[in-house]
Amino acid sequence: MSYALIFLGILIFVLLFSWAKDRESKEELKEVEVDPPADPLPLWDQTLVKETVENRLRQSVKIFCLRKHRPRIVNDLSPEERERLLKGFRARALPSGASLRLSKLLKDHLADSREVSRLAATDPVLSAKLLEVANSAYCRPSGAARVTSVHRAILILGFNQVRTILFQTIFREAVMNSGELDPEEIKKLWGHSAGVSVVAGQLAMKAGLPEGQAITAGLLHDIGKFFLPPAKEDHGLSMALSPEELEIPPVVLEDKIHGNNHMIVGGLLCSFWHLPKEIVMTVAYHHLPSFSDLRGLPEGVAELVALVSIADYICHLLGFFEEEPILYELSPWVCETVGLSYPIKNLVGPEMIKELEKTQLLVSAI
Ligand SMILES: [Fe+2]
Ligand SMILES: [Fe+2]
Repeated sequence: MSYALIFLGILIFVLLFSWAKDRESKEELKEVEVDPPADPLPLWDQTLVKETVENRLRQSVKIFCLRKHRPRIVNDLSPEERERLLKGFRARALPSGASLRLSKLLKDHLADSREVSRLAATDPVLSAKLLEVANSAYCRPSGAARVTSVHRAILILGFNQVRTILFQTIFREAVMNSGELDPEEIKKLWGHSAGVSVVAGQLAMKAGLPEGQAITAGLLHDIGKFFLPPAKEDHGLSMALSPEELEIPPVVLEDKIHGNNHMIVGGLLCSFWHLPKEIVMTVAYHHLPSFSDLRGLPEGVAELVALVSIADYICHLLGFFEEEPILYELSPWVCETVGLSYPIKNLVGPEMIKELEKTQLLVSAI
């Protein structure tokens, strides 16, 4: 009998204990449900975002100061040098017609996509390219219906990506005919240009400046490089550069080797192709030693040069397209010109990295 009472006592105690524990945990649960965290982005999440961005930044880059070694600019050319360069451009005429009209239309973000596709359809090379990319493994999930209309392709790709393809199509012939670079080098340069274009567009949006112009200027900023032979071929292996030459910024080394650099060649080419003056000037001045040199330029140009310079800096810092691990120093007031914060690496965010990853995939699919 006493054993039964002891057993009953233990049983009641165990039941009471587990009931109390259960109630406690339910109350804890209730408490969690009732009080959501005050901060919608918990601290660990922000740290993770910061770490993701930090991990993408290159650990080692060489920084050059262009105030010490000044590159030549278009204004330094003698009339004879200018004439000689322009003579060489005669063979680099651009195809006229729908592609250029389309590029104007794409400047406007609100352009009707049917109007864009109607124009694209008049350019067979461009239409084929748009359909090819829209049907690539990257854009079309397996099992999805084949894209056969240009209009649908434009909607799938988005206007910014269409702009990249459009520019590649327009300039392909001129670039290929130049015969200066091998296809691998051309692909890398297009990748870098597309990357700078994406970043310049995002920065323009952040700064409240026209996005279309920044995207176009970003795409074309290094166009002169397609028409300069690679420095190492002219100069022997890059390892053969003397220690003094290794300290010279690559854009200044171009001057020493070729007599001019990619800013001069690109700026003159864009002017030769009758591109808008804002684009011509941004291409011609995107590695200026000092931003005080930009005073006196037409309204909006200094801002565009600043956006492209910062975007170029970010792309070299991230190295998505195997860019040279070098940077041209930019002073805080480059950012002030467009109302962006300094240091520049803080402008890199997860959204930018996501867009660059998308561009990287798209460029490799073209
Ligand atoms: Fe450049
Ligand atoms: Fe660049």
